[in-house]
Amino acid sequence: MMTDDIDLSASFGSAWFPWPVFTASGCASSGKELAQFFPLREIGAVVTKSISIKARSGRPTPRMAETPSGMLNSIGLQGPGIDSFLENDIPWLVAQNTRIIVSISGETVDEFSVLARRLRSVRGICAVEVNISCPNVENRGLVFACDPEASRSVIEGVRRTLGGDLPIIAKLSPDVTDIVHIARGVVDAGADGLSLINTLLGMVINTDTLRPHLAGKTGGLSGPAIRPVAVRAVYQVHAALPEVPIVGMGGVRSGRDAFEMILAGASAVAVGTASFGNPRALLDIQNELKSLLKEKGFSSLKEAVGFAHRVDRTQREVKG
Ligand code: SIN
Repeated sequence: MMTDDIDLSASFGSAWFPWPVFTASGCASSGKELAQFFPLREIGAVVTKSISIKARSGRPTPRMAETPSGMLNSIGLQGPGIDSFLENDIPWLVAQNTRIIVSISGETVDEFSVLARRLRSVRGICAVEVNISCPNVENRGLVFACDPEASRSVIEGVRRTLGGDLPIIAKLSPDVTDIVHIARGVVDAGADGLSLINTLLGMVINTDTLRPHLAGKTGGLSGPAIRPVAVRAVYQVHAALPEVPIVGMGGVRSGRDAFEMILAGASAVAVGTASFGNPRALLDIQNELKSLLKEKGFSSLKEAVGFAHRVDRTQREVKG
């Protein structure tokens, strides 16, 4: 259990989180497996697997592959669908006394708004993560997050539906030429914060079968291999939009990795792939981050957010 002698809190719009380490959507479903290892209230928030309108069984197997310092997945947004999610997962999460961020994914702009409408009056939700890294069936399967107009439209629709009730965190893809352009668009459209980054599109070919290893052929690359890409994206977006809070993610597996994200400009950090190897990774990372912040002389996490951008470092003694 962490003590509160250093302020590690983070805010996204009107949502306040006492701790800065969140689950990364997709790696812990709604948190039941992780709850065997630690009380979920001891981390910042559970970000659920992106939920769709209908139940989805996902892609055929194989849908995961190990890669150098990473993991490739092509799950296909498997999930119970919004009805079952609201009936089963949300009450369970509320009973854990944890903070809940519901991630949503749609196949059309309108589907995102339908999902937002279902969430609007649900008690216990702190924020909605809008996962726009899914194919847009209305536009040749082009991923929403790779298309500035589609990204904006999704967030505008969700904002209109939610009114001012729930903060929106837009989850962006790194597979774009200019992530700052997409970030500006979704913030203008009403996002209160950003999740950076989703996985990078990759592929593994099995040299025995001579075919792509994943049944879905391509998959999303996560793990330490993508951390420098994530740090770069967080740094660029924070430089352009310093007031917009960011959940930094992509290969974070230690407190030092989390600290790097914070220095780049993240206000909170999400952990995914690391928890497959170490189910207590989130708590370990949170504790390590706290120790590092203290060691470097910070009295709060907020003080460290974007610190790597400051030109004049002489006013502060940076130890180590
Ligand atoms: C998946 O379920 O295939 C992953 C979805 C995502 O990366 O957003």
